[in-house]
Amino acid sequence: MLITLEGIEGSGKTSQLAHIEAFVRQRGLESVVTREPGGTTVGEKIRAVLLNPDIEKMAPLTELFLYEADRIEHLEKIIRPALEAGKVVVCDRFADATVVYQGYGRGLDLEMIHSLHRLILRDLKPDLTILFDLAPEIGLERAWNQVNNGSRSGRETRFEKEKLAFHRKIRDGYLTLARLEPERFFIVDAGQNETTVRDTVIEHLEGFIGHKL
Ligand code: TMP
Repeated sequence: MLITLEGIEGSGKTSQLAHIEAFVRQRGLESVVTREPGGTTVGEKIRAVLLNPDIEKMAPLTELFLYEADRIEHLEKIIRPALEAGKVVVCDRFADATVVYQGYGRGLDLEMIHSLHRLILRDLKPDLTILFDLAPEIGLERAWNQVNNGSRSGRETRFEKEKLAFHRKIRDGYLTLARLEPERFFIVDAGQNETTVRDTVIEHLEGFIGHKL
């Protein structure tokens, strides 16, 4: 089973990973918690380039292909082997992030991105995508506070540095995807406190995993 977490910067999805992992374990299931970009040796190097705040201008297609290269490596080394072994894979961002950031955000052709995904993912699709929805003004403020207090790396702020208008496109893009596939997406109001968000997510997972097993 593949569960993905999505949302704008500062939406708190990464803090929820640990709660989700604990819940999956409690249910007696083996889990693999991973992230994109990253998750593999090559992927972590690609991540360092993609999120480097000193690189201000990168051609949108270069950005797209770096995310897809990271994903190919990740699928081959981590995701597919874990799924084949019957594990629950919980991934902090996945292909929806490319549709939203490089498609809706950078303006690349959505059909081209979908064709790349047909090639790379084949028939793999997340079973469940949890969307941590939040106003970008709040998300960005949270993200920069985390950078300033050291809980988020200052070496990974290339997207945080984008204008508010870009982050608005990202939020709207995610909400559009969620409207297109309501059976796959679960939207949680990430403006609530961490405990309330956790309880809402776990309650949904109880139903979802219980129903699948
Ligand atoms: P994060 O690990 O803090 O979520 O940062 C990853 C950043 O990369 C985030 O700003 C979203 C961006 N991103 C894309 O633009 N496209 C993608 O395909 C993925 C996976 C992430």
